[in-house]
Amino acid sequence: MRPFAEEFVQSPKLASVRYDVRGPIAQEAARLEREGHRITRLNIGNPAPFGFEAPDSILQTMIRELPTAQGYSDSQGIHSARVAIAQYYQTRGMQDASPEDVWLGNGVSELISMVLTALLGPGDEVLIPAPDYPLWTGATKLAGGTPVHYICDEANRWWPDPEEIESKVTDRTRALVLINPNNPTGAVYPREVLEALVDICRRHDLMLLADEIYENITFDQVEMVNACTLSDDVLTVTFSGLSKTWRVAGFRSGWIYISGPTHRAKNYLEGLALLMNMRMCANVPAQHAIQAALGGHQSIEDLILPQGRLYEQRNTAHERLAQIEGVTVEKADGALYLFPRLDPEIYPIDDDQQFVIELLRQQKILVSHGRAFNWIDSQHFRLVTLPSVEDLETAIDSIAEFLDGYRSGAVARV
Ligand SMILES: Cc1ncc(COP(=O)(O)O)c(C=O)c1O
Repeated sequence: MRPFAEEFVQSPKLASVRYDVRGPIAQEAARLEREGHRITRLNIGNPAPFGFEAPDSILQTMIRELPTAQGYSDSQGIHSARVAIAQYYQTRGMQDASPEDVWLGNGVSELISMVLTALLGPGDEVLIPAPDYPLWTGATKLAGGTPVHYICDEANRWWPDPEEIESKVTDRTRALVLINPNNPTGAVYPREVLEALVDICRRHDLMLLADEIYENITFDQVEMVNACTLSDDVLTVTFSGLSKTWRVAGFRSGWIYISGPTHRAKNYLEGLALLMNMRMCANVPAQHAIQAALGGHQSIEDLILPQGRLYEQRNTAHERLAQIEGVTVEKADGALYLFPRLDPEIYPIDDDQQFVIELLRQQKILVSHGRAFNWIDSQHFRLVTLPSVEDLETAIDSIAEFLDGYRSGAVARV
């Protein structure tokens, strides 16, 4: 019999898995809240708490369908939702998109894990952007793979450099992850860059994993190109869902659309189907929301135009941050975030997590530190641009005050 241990310990599989966006800093915020402080949460891209209501048609459809949504569904997802998603990609140029190519999940998060688990063996490498949405790195490790980060270039609008990516391809590389529009940088990649990435996948026979959950949140008429439209010979898994564009992150509803040479992926798809079967199905009421979401008037379009909340908030946050001494920040072309840089000459930060905790303690503003996104230095943080213009102004003024204190030495250096 195994000897009694002092405590129950976690699996060694978790040893290098991190998800700091909801980690120690969020715990400190919860502690401060228990003490009665009001925290401004600029750390998670969750639209609903900021007054972004879901389109009414989604709620009405779910309420109506609730009585018929009590049982498990097909593990790939209900047919009407998969038809709606196939049609969505047809209107984006994928004429052959069929419901058979669409798989539903409990949010993109679950699908990221399943797609990687079905693909990776020990030591298989996945090219992932730095900074990244950290679930991609964590899920790669949990699936037994090795994340290999390619650096997005802040000096070039946070776009990736195809040459650098290609230099990191080895004979163990299985897939290339693309997050476009990007979290945390807000970059939207131009067609040429995307074509170059698709070409790398083509030449090295990599699977392209395109996380496009922010595809409908872009500003200033920037062109958003769906990576799947750029080839018919690269196996492409496109990830999207209802959490952001349709503002129902809590419903946990997402999908993948698989395109390209699927005839070469029969064995892989059997593995994916096995994992889908093992978790029975995605949340069924939320699957019904998909058809309602994708058809008809798209209210997100009003939010991203001038006068729209997301547009104005992005502008305000960008302008206000850029006015702070020693802060530079790329104006986001899409998504819900800014990823400012603090000049190391002025703010020599050793531990960005501690820096963010100090900001939280002093100003009651919660942001995420750059290293939480697998970024390579400690001079960045991410904030969400979801609060109202007034709340963003107040929050960024508090950040400015904190940085003032840091410059003058009133705030201890970390
Ligand atoms: C780039 C990216 N991918 C995936 C997700 C997860 O989304 P979901 O709510 O569909 O699980 C997020 C959530 O913030 C994200 O930013």
